[in-house]
Amino acid sequence: MCGIIGILGDHQAAPILVDALRRLEYRGYDSAGIATVADGRLDRRRAVGKLVNLADLLVEQPLRGQAGIGHTRWATHGGPSVANAHPHRAGRVAVVHNGIIENFRALRGELGGPWESETDTETVVRLCETYLDQGLGPKDAAFATVDRLEGAYALCFLFDGEEDLLIAARAGSPLAVGHGEGEMFVGSDAIALGPLTDRLTYLQEGDRAVVTRAGARFFDAEGNQTHREMTRIRVDAARIEKAGHRHFMAKEIHEQPQTLADVLALYLDGDRVAPPLDYDWDATDRVQMVACGTAQIACAVAKYWFEQLARLPVEVDIASEYRYREGPVGAETTALFVSQSGETADTLAALRYAKGKARRILSVVNVPESSIARESDLAFPIRAGVEIGVASTKAFVNQLTVLLALAVRAGVARGTIDAAREAELVAALRALPGLVSQALAIEPRCEALAMRLAEATDILFLGRGTMYPMAQEGALKLKEISYIHAEAYASGELKHGPIALVDRTLPVVVFAPMDAVFDKTVSNMQEVMAREGKVLLVTDSRGAEAASHGVWEVLVLPRIDPVLAPILYAVPAQLLAYHTAVHKGTDVDQPRNLAKSVTVE
Ligand code: G6P
Repeated sequence: MCGIIGILGDHQAAPILVDALRRLEYRGYDSAGIATVADGRLDRRRAVGKLVNLADLLVEQPLRGQAGIGHTRWATHGGPSVANAHPHRAGRVAVVHNGIIENFRALRGELGGPWESETDTETVVRLCETYLDQGLGPKDAAFATVDRLEGAYALCFLFDGEEDLLIAARAGSPLAVGHGEGEMFVGSDAIALGPLTDRLTYLQEGDRAVVTRAGARFFDAEGNQTHREMTRIRVDAARIEKAGHRHFMAKEIHEQPQTLADVLALYLDGDRVAPPLDYDWDATDRVQMVACGTAQIACAVAKYWFEQLARLPVEVDIASEYRYREGPVGAETTALFVSQSGETADTLAALRYAKGKARRILSVVNVPESSIARESDLAFPIRAGVEIGVASTKAFVNQLTVLLALAVRAGVARGTIDAAREAELVAALRALPGLVSQALAIEPRCEALAMRLAEATDILFLGRGTMYPMAQEGALKLKEISYIHAEAYASGELKHGPIALVDRTLPVVVFAPMDAVFDKTVSNMQEVMAREGKVLLVTDSRGAEAASHGVWEVLVLPRIDPVLAPILYAVPAQLLAYHTAVHKGTDVDQPRNLAKSVTVE
């Protein structure tokens, strides 16, 4: 979603703010702005579009001052415009905000117009200014403002005449205070603060912080001063650089052999699966898996694994549906939430719905300090490292790997797989980083195919078994970064509708490793070819030998135990989407209208 940075420094703040916003740009990129206080005067600059526009504006109209706040926006209330960009200001106060103020209409009615923007955030500064007018000091005015807000937010306030004060508040959206030497910082994530300090204090739900260069004081939701632990974090700077790649997405795709090896080291021990946290899988009757976007597709694959390997029934839900459907969650149900960021608003709300009803709350998350990780009974790490590209790649592959490890563990605990099968699967898992490396060798072929896919207006993806959700992942990746309409179907459903779309202009990507359902998928593929559809078959050498005749193109991947195939087949899904987008010239890392972490409903 949006990114927030605040600085009380001993250098000019503007360049440092812009630099931090550059690291935060993956969270939102439709407009950006900064405000500083210099010689007691609050001033701000804002620009629509990418951060470079703000940087250019600052060259023409510099901002002095060693105290400042900055923001990069993903529009919710009101389109991308200078007026809607943050920081918002009313008189003596400026604020940057991430999240949504749900009672903003009521506050607008109470405060009365005119309004400079269409945003909910403007009500925050107007309210705060009203409290300042009533004679409250900055801290009390900000606290009184926060007391009135409903919704999910992270806020950072800066005041006219106050060069040594930031007020931060958190409800539902993450925020951390960073401790420097005679300098202090506020940031919406560790990446923003990474090069500035490695000492962070995460605000807890409802917390406010009064930050000066001398340090920070923390207050809970009732306004009582409280202690919050400082932690040392390690943000590997190398992982937030493109390392010679044209896009973060390309770099992240190529990192997968390494990030896979990292997560496997955590979940395997000899020829056993040994997750870092243990769960009594034999004491639960069913699992509800809930997530959004790509993470939800990881759950859809995991359903096959848990049901086949552990004979454990799994329901998969989209978080935004799960939370409002109010379905039954029994005491024997294990609720499992999957999220790269650990902050996705719908997933977090779904978790809170299940809490107290489900037997246990489990999560599979990439960011260990995230809200979802903290609110779970057991949070299984995926160790993918920082992921910047909006389209999830290495995090998805590691989510799959962790979910498979858990399914195997569940199978062992429930006596549905024996030690020999476990050892076989562990051996296959250990071979994965090497196979993914080999699979990356299809990149030049994908690049050539992408040129042709880029001409299509619609593309269909088909698969059976675990390849059905992988077809969904292929379609999702392609549409989010290339803007080509793509749909996925279970191969067997083709004849119940989508076959009507098939003609000689329609590329149909078929994921079909040689497995127990290969022949069935090939029959469906023949139905497409009989209607002149252009089939791109993604398979292994045996599949290519058996079924290449008459297809438009074949992509050949290394052979793999069919159980693990979805992890390997993520690679062509990613590479086809990536190169199609590059060929179309879209903004691969920051596709239009999307954001990396969606902290609003
Ligand atoms: C956004 C991102 C997707 C991601 C989804 C869920 O839509 O663009 O890549 O899969 O959110 O995010 P999470 O952080 O919960 O995995």
